[in-house]
Amino acid sequence: MSTSIRVSLGERSYDILTAPSYAALPPALARLGLPRWACVVSHPALLDRFGAGLLGPLRRAGWDVKTITVPESERSKSYAMAERVLQQLARLAVMQEPLLLAFGGGVVGDLTGFVASVFRRGVPYVQLPTTLLAQVDSAIGGKVGVDLSFAKNFVGTFYQPRLVVNHLGVLRSLPLRQRRSGLGEVIKYGVMADRELFRYVETHAGKCVEGRPAALRVIVPRCCRIKARVVSQDERETRGLRTHLNFGHTLGHAIETATGYRRFTHGEAIAVGMVAASRISVEMGLMPPADASRVEALLRATGLPTRAAGVSWPAAARAMRFDKKFLHGRMRWVLSRGIGRVVVRQDVPPALVERVSRSCLTGLGRP
Ligand SMILES: NC(=O)c1ccc[n+]([C@@H]2O[C@H](COP(=O)([O-])OP(=O)(O)OC[C@H]3O[C@@H](n4cnc5c(N)ncnc54)[C@H](O)[C@@H]3O)[C@@H](O)[C@H]2O)c1
Ligand SMILES: [Zn+2]
Repeated sequence: MSTSIRVSLGERSYDILTAPSYAALPPALARLGLPRWACVVSHPALLDRFGAGLLGPLRRAGWDVKTITVPESERSKSYAMAERVLQQLARLAVMQEPLLLAFGGGVVGDLTGFVASVFRRGVPYVQLPTTLLAQVDSAIGGKVGVDLSFAKNFVGTFYQPRLVVNHLGVLRSLPLRQRRSGLGEVIKYGVMADRELFRYVETHAGKCVEGRPAALRVIVPRCCRIKARVVSQDERETRGLRTHLNFGHTLGHAIETATGYRRFTHGEAIAVGMVAASRISVEMGLMPPADASRVEALLRATGLPTRAAGVSWPAAARAMRFDKKFLHGRMRWVLSRGIGRVVVRQDVPPALVERVSRSCLTGLGRP
């Protein structure tokens, strides 16, 4: 059974297909009139495991397909790696108009989208996300780019894919830690915009953590619908709405940067960030304390961290200064008004940020 969700952006509109295999990919690419010379960017292990199911249907349908691989690590989302991929692509795609296929998690998706946006001033690309996190979030919306060593996602652009295909079957090999990491973003959507989704994960936490197909069929399209709606209304984050997707990301990104992108997955870091944002929301009189407790309890129930012990506050504070949500020198915080509703505030006292962040980094003394 396939579902299709539309991201409505005028001539840049595209579909997010949830499908049981990649058999639907070649006809969908053909309908879009995309180039028949394609380059898959991925990791070696992913191609070993699932390459036949992807490359087979494409080649049988007449596509000429090449592959470029990058190491599995957030550190592959770098300027240096983008240059390496661009050079390989330039050598492979001589006299060809290429279509890029991003086959991997958020790292491959963000990197490949960035490469597609600058290669020969822009070539089409398609997202084939293989992690829960990428299927529910990063593959949709066209935010592409790379990290600097001291600033997460600091170099990039908006460049929409032509199609997203979520094959739920590829998630079966996802390690427990990565399933949990994706649930971090799912819980974010719940707090941000969907009480029912939050409740679903609360009542089916075990099945969600196990990645049971029945649970995935509920949560993946539900999150995609929220993201598609937000992106359709605020593609370039100029109306404030898209900023809502960054609930938990202020401290989250700082934790990732402060630990050299090695210690925490993105979902783990934003889990801690969501605890901080919830505690600040309570202190600002916005969020009922009981809702903040539910957020923390659900993160614990799914095995996500609620603190990042040992991360130094000065290092996190330094990283926060490079947060793109800074406007005219003031930090904008995405805070919760209770599960299902968020608000952006610029008036969070710095002392409160420090006190709450420290409590999440040391785990001592709840504010
Ligand atoms: N562009 C956006 O809007 C957006 C939104 C959210 C997150 N992100 C970015 O996404 C990145 C995180 O993405 P991620 O969590 O997917 O991490 P990731 O891409 O590093 O993937 C995690 C790990 O899972 C492995 N993997 C991927 N698919 C697998 C499969 N099917 N089976 C087994 N292993 C598999 C990968 O090789 C990797 O080792 C971060 O850089 C984050 O900033 C971007
Ligand atoms: Zn995120």
